[in-house]
Amino acid sequence: MPKRDLLLRAIHQNPIERFPVWLMRQAGRYMKEYRELREKEKDFLSLCKNVDLSVKISLLPLELLDVDAIIIFSDILVPLEGLGLTVRFVEGEGPSVEWDGKVGSLKKYDPESNSFVYQIIQRVIGEQQEVPVIGFAGAPFTLASYMIEGGASRDFLRTKLFMWEREYDFGRLMEILTDTIYDYLSAQIEAGCHVVQIFDSWAGALSRSDYEYHVYQYTDHLIGRMKEKYDIPVIYFFRNSSSFMDFALNLRADVLSLDWSVDISEVSLKTDKVLQGNLEPAVLYAEEETLKLKTLELLRSVPRKTGYIFNLGHGLAPDMDFNKVKLLVDTVKNYNIP
Ligand code: CP3
Repeated sequence: MPKRDLLLRAIHQNPIERFPVWLMRQAGRYMKEYRELREKEKDFLSLCKNVDLSVKISLLPLELLDVDAIIIFSDILVPLEGLGLTVRFVEGEGPSVEWDGKVGSLKKYDPESNSFVYQIIQRVIGEQQEVPVIGFAGAPFTLASYMIEGGASRDFLRTKLFMWEREYDFGRLMEILTDTIYDYLSAQIEAGCHVVQIFDSWAGALSRSDYEYHVYQYTDHLIGRMKEKYDIPVIYFFRNSSSFMDFALNLRADVLSLDWSVDISEVSLKTDKVLQGNLEPAVLYAEEETLKLKTLELLRSVPRKTGYIFNLGHGLAPDMDFNKVKLLVDTVKNYNIP
């Protein structure tokens, strides 16, 4: 068990002396040290497969920001290669995924195809016993959307048409992804990570009924199966939740990670689940005084003495200022829970 177990105590709703803090995309291009290590590999995917470098990068936020958790350096698209797909990260263009649209052409996922990820987890735990280590995966819908769109999308039109017009194939794809993610996260847990986070970044693009009929059952099955097998906290991250918040509250996740479209004090009234988030990342572009003010405003609005983890509503961006990120972390760490 890590020495500084603040995150785990907050998740188990045990007493805490302050709110724990970590940040999504905490190891990224906004750090000079990351950019230097990034140059040692030809592209982002090769960097993810380089265990030595990925371990160093995973540790940077602990060394430079003294955050309360380490999230493994990798990407949600990494396991898609194990389904036989070509995944590319082209500089300045974002990720791309090549798939012929045929469910039958997908390879059976072998978790060993991602053994480098489990090695990174083991090495990160070997190199520091200070804070908990978070493993992660994309949620079935978010991964399906990358496969169907071939990359990032603004409107998810192809995904929606596929879902409505090829309902049977969509269901099979969601089943395959659910099993894949289960195997992938299981191997991460067996490698020793203390918490897992499931990123459903794009589920918020759906209407309420589409989330209900095409997404909820798979996400719920995935989380339920994880919880039946492993005694480990599961965090569910989602955005633009207004249409499906009640479904998210029903998932068997221990922690819900919220974006800034919701008021955390209102969500607190509806659930005993642990909450994470939900500072608007744009606050990091503000002047120092504004940044502190907005951060304290959020912290004061949390009507809890435990069961809350500070984070942003979404990830840090490459053009953010390291000193502001450090100020943010320190502001949270200096805040006394009333
Ligand atoms: O949080 C962390 O620090 C852990 C590492 C992590 C990365 N991506 C590293 C990364 C995690 C947890 C992710 C998750 C991820 N990846 C999500 C879910 C969270 C979210 O942001 O909604 C999504 C949708 C992706 C897909 C993805 N990967 C995108 C949209 C991009 C940005 C494209 C770009 O060119 O910036 C990536 C690349 C990526 N993943 C980077 C990092 C640090 C930037 C790569 C670089 O250094 O150039």
